[in-house]
Amino acid sequence: MRALTKSATQEGPTRTPSILLENVHLTLASAAGPVNILNGLSLTVEPGEAVALLGPSGSGKSSLLMVAAGLENASAGRVSVAGRVLSGMDEDALARFRREHVGIVFQSFHLVPTMTALENVAVPLELLGRSDAFARAEEALAHVGLDHRLEHYPGQLSGGEQQRVALARAIVHEPEVLFADEPTGNLDGATGAAIVDLLFSLRARARATLFLVTHEEALAARCDRILRMKDGLIVADSGAAAAPSTASRSPSPVNGEGSL
Ligand SMILES: Nc1ncnc2c1ncn2[C@@H]1O[C@H](COP(=O)(O)OP(=O)(O)OP(=O)(O)O)[C@@H](O)[C@H]1O
Ligand SMILES: [Mg+2]
Repeated sequence: MRALTKSATQEGPTRTPSILLENVHLTLASAAGPVNILNGLSLTVEPGEAVALLGPSGSGKSSLLMVAAGLENASAGRVSVAGRVLSGMDEDALARFRREHVGIVFQSFHLVPTMTALENVAVPLELLGRSDAFARAEEALAHVGLDHRLEHYPGQLSGGEQQRVALARAIVHEPEVLFADEPTGNLDGATGAAIVDLLFSLRARARATLFLVTHEEALAARCDRILRMKDGLIVADSGAAAAPSTASRSPSPVNGEGSL
């Protein structure tokens, strides 16, 4: 019960949010001068929620994910994820935070081309010094239906298979929060649908919070809550007050579970 603040008997308002952003700004330098990307954004996501983030291209969705996942430092404001305050962490601390607490899936897979599927999935656990890294990686690859492709390199796998490896890598360390940035963007419709089913299934198995960036309304509708972004701010939130205690690490399946 690592998501709880004090004791397992506490519920509702006393729970530590899974993602807490308070007045977050992100300003990056460009050749044309500083670019304001996130403009004082605040957001609370409760443990176990599945949240979809929609918005026009350039509105800041990936930037928000990068800040919340500890891949980018906010320029101002406070970022707290899985009970850890990210604001002020240096690169090493952020890397360790990511390895221990979050899983991240990108549109373009981000696998290491010179490593086999098994090695790609084992790396995060090896970096944590886990002696069972390869056994756990094999198990995770079995969960995504790739136990027959352990020794294949990314270049020897289809796009859908590469994304399955990326999913296995994202969940192998049982993260509290699973981030996905357009995970089906590079896949055809049928392959993408299978990946989405798998994503929801893995998320239900781990009872993790899901933060999903997508352009697809139908995919967003499978989540508990839909956020819409524009110009670096959240302009619509279908569930601002939603904090379903039953959603947190409950054994009941979410949408899409069982469709594998
Ligand atoms: N490293 C950077 N330096 C300067 N500006 C950046 C940088 N990265 C992103 N931006 C700008 O920040 C804005 C938000 O980018 P972001 O990638 O977060 O958008 P997005 O909503 O994910 O878009 P898409 O749907 O196309 O993926 C864009 O205007 C982009 O040009
Ligand atoms: Mg993006």
